[in-house]
Amino acid sequence: MLSIGHPCAELNPSRGLWFRAVLSVYAAHINVDDPLSGLMVGQLDPPAAPSGWVSVDVRAASLNHHDLWSLRGVGLPADRLPMILGCDAAGVDADGNEVVVHSVVTDDAWRGDETLDPRRSILSERHAGTFAERVWVPRRNLVPKPAALSFAEAACLPTAWLTAYRMLFTRAAVVPGSTLLVQGAGGGVATALIALARAAGLRVWATSRSEEKRERALSLGADAVFAPGSRLPERVDVVAETVGAATWDHSLKSLKPGGTIVISGATSGGDPPAGLNRVFFLQLSVIGSTMGTRDELDRLVQLCVERDVRPVIESTVPMEDARAAFEALAGGDVFGKLVLTR
Ligand SMILES: NC(=O)c1ccc[n+]([C@@H]2O[C@H](COP(=O)([O-])OP(=O)(O)OC[C@H]3O[C@@H](n4cnc5c(N)ncnc54)[C@H](OP(=O)(O)O)[C@@H]3O)[C@@H](O)[C@H]2O)c1
Repeated sequence: MLSIGHPCAELNPSRGLWFRAVLSVYAAHINVDDPLSGLMVGQLDPPAAPSGWVSVDVRAASLNHHDLWSLRGVGLPADRLPMILGCDAAGVDADGNEVVVHSVVTDDAWRGDETLDPRRSILSERHAGTFAERVWVPRRNLVPKPAALSFAEAACLPTAWLTAYRMLFTRAAVVPGSTLLVQGAGGGVATALIALARAAGLRVWATSRSEEKRERALSLGADAVFAPGSRLPERVDVVAETVGAATWDHSLKSLKPGGTIVISGATSGGDPPAGLNRVFFLQLSVIGSTMGTRDELDRLVQLCVERDVRPVIESTVPMEDARAAFEALAGGDVFGKLVLTR
């Protein structure tokens, strides 16, 4: 076999340019009711990357609820299997630079806000994801990783934390001194919302189903915590939603006239009761938000360094032990992020 310069590329006389099998965490089949039955950990030939893409040696990659949705077939049709999972990574590029990987891949011709490209995807939907020794991405998707952030911390930023950043600062345009309610405090996005809103000078309230997670939310910087559905001491300016059906009614009822719900997910179900009368009579705004741009990721990285904000990491496990991390995520007994390392 003839090496052609790239540490993982070889010229195979019968197959042309190909990439050696790499340790991967991947979806082998889809199962809506038992998503972990389709999860595999083992050697896999990654598909050849589009020309011009660059490789990153993955040092850390974090799990997101998105990985469970993928195993259920949401955004991942069976004809794309096997698919390496994972949206987030931090690692080292072929030139030796420490980088954070922006997960949103746009059409080559797209210009402007990447999240608005109707043909966009995020890693592991159309292109191989980050739960592998190596991932390939367009060069523009690399953001410098400051030395102040560990690989594990940096690997939490590109999906959950970037989504929280855009929800707060771009979409809801929160202002210091206002009050934010975060539903479902324990999640990856929710813990990021609490930490970022605190750093930005908001009063932060949070709900969680778990007493222990409510306590941890207070330690993270929430000013007050409540059981789901509780009557609040007063109405809030903004509610940040990722839970969906289970909390939607409470979110609407918790808002001041003129208030805003910013929503990026619906873990408990996507068809909440609408509450339309309340929306128009109180002149509420319901704003959707998805992922974030490369520039927003760059600013988020700087914010974490400058304001000494760090992702909450529940645990870090070797990539070989990914199944245990997936079981914990699916069990819902997690506060913050789960990280795979190499
Ligand atoms: N649009 C986007 O770009 C984008 C980006 C990132 C995430 N998301 C979506 O946002 C959601 C959260 O993602 P994540 O990665 O943060 O998930 P995660 O870490 O698994 O967190 C799960 C969250 O769901 C809450 N929860 C689950 N079931 C619930 C129920 N029945 N009642 C109340 N709360 C419930 C948990 O709150 P407690 O346990 O504290 O009660 C926790 O906040 C997912 O649906 C994900 O797909 C969307």
